[in-house]
Amino acid sequence: MKVTVVGAGAVGASCAEYIAIKNFASEVVLVDIIDNFAEGKAMDLMQTATLNGFDTKITGSTNDYAKTAGSTVAVITSGIPRKPGMTREELIGINAGIVKSVSEQLIKHSPDVILIIVSNPMDTMTYLTHKTLDLPKNRIIGMGGALDSARFKYRLAEAMDCPSSDVDGMVIGGHSDKGMVPLTRLASRNRVRASEFLSEERLQKVLEDTKVGGATLTGMLGTSAWYAPGAAVSALVQSIVCDQHKMFPCSALLDGEYGLSNLCIGVPVLLGKNGIEKIVEIDLDEVEKEKLATSAEGVKATNALLNEIGAL
Ligand code: LAC
Repeated sequence: MKVTVVGAGAVGASCAEYIAIKNFASEVVLVDIIDNFAEGKAMDLMQTATLNGFDTKITGSTNDYAKTAGSTVAVITSGIPRKPGMTREELIGINAGIVKSVSEQLIKHSPDVILIIVSNPMDTMTYLTHKTLDLPKNRIIGMGGALDSARFKYRLAEAMDCPSSDVDGMVIGGHSDKGMVPLTRLASRNRVRASEFLSEERLQKVLEDTKVGGATLTGMLGTSAWYAPGAAVSALVQSIVCDQHKMFPCSALLDGEYGLSNLCIGVPVLLGKNGIEKIVEIDLDEVEKEKLATSAEGVKATNALLNEIGAL
């Protein structure tokens, strides 16, 4: 199966690398607008094949979407990343036009493709892609919750001073510093609630650190993070390509689920060969419902900017 990754920057290249290392796709096509950049990244990655033991063929293309034809899944990472101090929402003006034109090119060459949107502000870019392409809603998925949940689990393991494999946790809501809803009530260590190990204050700190997970790294690195975003995307791609039906929180177009409609926001979904196979509605308590509703208002406010900048 062929997977396209548009944007050969740090997130796109990490994503291609993780997909290749997991060895489940026959081909990964990296696309970028900078002359020879994707080709160079592809060649560098291919020179790791014998070292890392994968057979996935990685090729690069400078903006030639004919080379992406027949892709099963395409990942859009294109656009500018945030700089220290910037919010994801501030990227909308530049990234909306890029995401729109990339999605149109992809669908022209791979009419059955399943799209994963990574570009920020991600929930709004996912919504824009739905509005632009008008595909069945299971075929356009936003990557945010899988990354935010991985960061949540990292913070939980750090707080409980335990191996990562002991912890479980999920973040729903918008992929923004204010909008994320880490579900601390359901966080656990080997099925025992995290609240048995951590004080209310420590759990609150885990929640706050999780919400600014991306911003913290942007401050440290001078640009947006790439290893965890790349790994999170590769896990979603694998669940689709291998029809695993794994559950991840992803940005999905809602139509009444969780009492929300006409927006894309992070909720648990099952990912398989059709993309979103099912939106899973879990029982939230009143506080969590309220947080999700507030998060949805924030996402809708960002979506409204699409009209203002003429993207819709
Ligand atoms: C982050 C970007 C990918 O959170 O949104 O690192």
